[in-house]
Formats: sequence, structure tokens, C-alpha cells
Amino acid sequence: MIYRAAIFDLDGVIADTARLHLQAWRQLAEALQRPWADDTEEKLKGLERMASLEVILGGESGNFSEETKLALASRKNSRYQELIRSLSPEDLLPGAGKLLAWLYERKIPIALASASKNAPAVLQALGISDFFSYIADPEQSAPKPSPEIFLAAAQGLQVEAEFCIAFEDAAAGVTAIKAAQGMTAVGVGSESTLGSADYIVGSLEMFDPKDFFLSAIRAAVVS
Ligand code: G6P
Ligand code: MG
Repeated sequence: MIYRAAIFDLDGVIADTARLHLQAWRQLAEALQRPWADDTEEKLKGLERMASLEVILGGESGNFSEETKLALASRKNSRYQELIRSLSPEDLLPGAGKLLAWLYERKIPIALASASKNAPAVLQALGISDFFSYIADPEQSAPKPSPEIFLAAAQGLQVEAEFCIAFEDAAAGVTAIKAAQGMTAVGVGSESTLGSADYIVGSLEMFDPKDFFLSAIRAAVVS
């Protein structure tokens, strides 16, 4: 397959921000005296804000009013926003900056498909906003594992899903990509949680774009 566009998740793929989300959720869980199980971390990855809160509240969820839940989610978000204030290009994960620059220099369009409403601010702080032709709005799509946000990203780039390759660190995200009309999934992380991806790499550093895009560039030059 010759790919024509790349779609990225943000937290845990491009930037080391998944740990900041977790840190903020963990503080809230402690304040509410909610347990933090071995699999809580993996469950929270890629989950939208209110769904994440439900994981934290667990069996106690019914004891909180909607209003209180919104206030709790907003408390977590304020803490997260405090944590991302100190982000800089140094917080890019290995290989991320190089891969984005490689694609951008070759005019291969790049979109973001992140559930995070803080994504534009994070891209700005990391100094990589200009690489992105399109940022899918998480408020306009059903949350992952629905494929909607990845389809919206492909549409935003005007490239059919089957010609897009998408990168994810969360199981819910890989499921979303695999349901997106023939899109190809690259899992960034471990085989144990991302087994259904088409390719798995430990980090973006291990993804060689020449293997996936070069023929697209040659084809464009020839035609
Ligand atoms: C991403 C992260 C999740 C986070 C979600 C919502 O998917 O992986 O950990 O909960 O975005 O982020 P937000 O910044 O909108 O609360
Ligand atoms: Mg992620």
C-alpha cells in the first residue's frame, strides 16, 4: 500500500503527556479515596474526559450528581493545564519531531485525531502546530473506540481512509483506526495491549517512513 497521509493521536504518541493526564487523574482519585488498580492506567489511555472520570469513580459513580461530576472533571482539567504549562519541544517523544518534519518536508499531509480538548495548546507548546494541516475536533465526533474522529481527520485532509496510516498508543484508539474504512493502524507501544494493530513499534523512532511513503512521492514525481 502506498500511503498519502498520516494521522496522529497526541498523548503518548507524539508527546509524553499521557503521564501528565495520569498524574492529574491519580491526584483526583486520591482526593476521593478511590482505588487505583493495576489496570487503571491502561484503561484511562485515550479515553475522553468524562469517560475517564467514570473509570475513577467506578462503583461509586451513582453517588455523584452530574453537576458534581462536571466539577470533578473540571478540577482534573485545571490540574492538567497546570502540568502542561511547562511543556516544551523537549517533551516530544523519541522520533516524533523527526517524523513530522520528514512528512511535512515531502508535502505528505498530517492530521491530528486526539480526544483531548487541550490538544491545540499542547501542539503550540511543543512547537509543532505548523506541521498539521488539520486538527479533528473531538467535540464533533463520538469518542474512541468509535472510528469517527479518524474518519473526520481523513476527510479534513481530503484523503480516503484506506490511503491513511494512523498512529495510536491506546487500545481504544487502535480499535477506532481498525474500524475506519480500511485505515492502517500503527500501534506505538507494546504488543500485549496493541495486538490488533497492523504494525507495532516501541516508539516513532522505530517507524521508517521511507518504507510507507516513498513510493507515493516517486509516483507523484513520475506522473
Ligand atoms: C486523550 C488522552 C486521554 C484524555 C483525553 C481527553 O485521549 O489520551 O488521557 O483523557 O485525551 O483529554 P482532555 O484534555 O480533553 O481532558
Ligand atoms: Mg494516546
